[in-house]
Amino acid sequence: MAENIYPIHTRMMSRQEHEALLGQRGMMIWFTGLSGSGKSTIALGVEHELARLGIKTQILDGDNIRHGINADLGFSVEDRRENIRRIAQVGRLFVDAGIVTLAAFVSPTREIRRMACDIIGKDDFKEVYVSTSLEECERRDVKGLYAKARRGEVKDFTGISSVFEAPERPTLVIDTGVQPLEQSIRQVVALVMENMKTN
Ligand code: ADX
Repeated sequence: MAENIYPIHTRMMSRQEHEALLGQRGMMIWFTGLSGSGKSTIALGVEHELARLGIKTQILDGDNIRHGINADLGFSVEDRRENIRRIAQVGRLFVDAGIVTLAAFVSPTREIRRMACDIIGKDDFKEVYVSTSLEECERRDVKGLYAKARRGEVKDFTGISSVFEAPERPTLVIDTGVQPLEQSIRQVVALVMENMKTN
């Protein structure tokens, strides 16, 4: 067996090599906010806009993570923590591959988001707080989950029966209840482009 084990540096490209190949810098844009606040919608718009600029992205959100790698997790404090831990570890791999990674998760507590930032690294982690109010999210209730939570049919629902702690020093705050989607997308694209330069 031993002759088939190679030292890691002979088979792995460095982050610098990945970034040089792609001509871009890897980073994590971390969207946090209530369910229905607009996190994934903004991330999708940002992805389309960056694609036009020739920038490679990857979205991580409930659709591709909670149905797949994290299908075994629920919404208890411990499960949310494990959800975010795995996402941050996967996100780290994308960032190391030079990809602009857009993660859209409720990630409700400061402690959970600090853990994500520690895993990814402060310099690569940009926190975007989608601050759309509970009233507005509940009014939209796209998935009907707020109504269910109010009826007690979904337990530990963020904003209703489970805590959401607003970030203290987010890089960007976006309230989709007061500004149009296009403006939110532009702000995040500007943030990405700004960080593209700083390396
Ligand atoms: S997190 O808290 O662990 O970060 P995550 O972003 O993955 O949450 O998933 C949130 C999505 O799962 C919500 O947008 C909603 O569609 C759905 N969901 C189902 N049950 C809950 C719940 N109890 N609390 C919050 N979101 C829930």
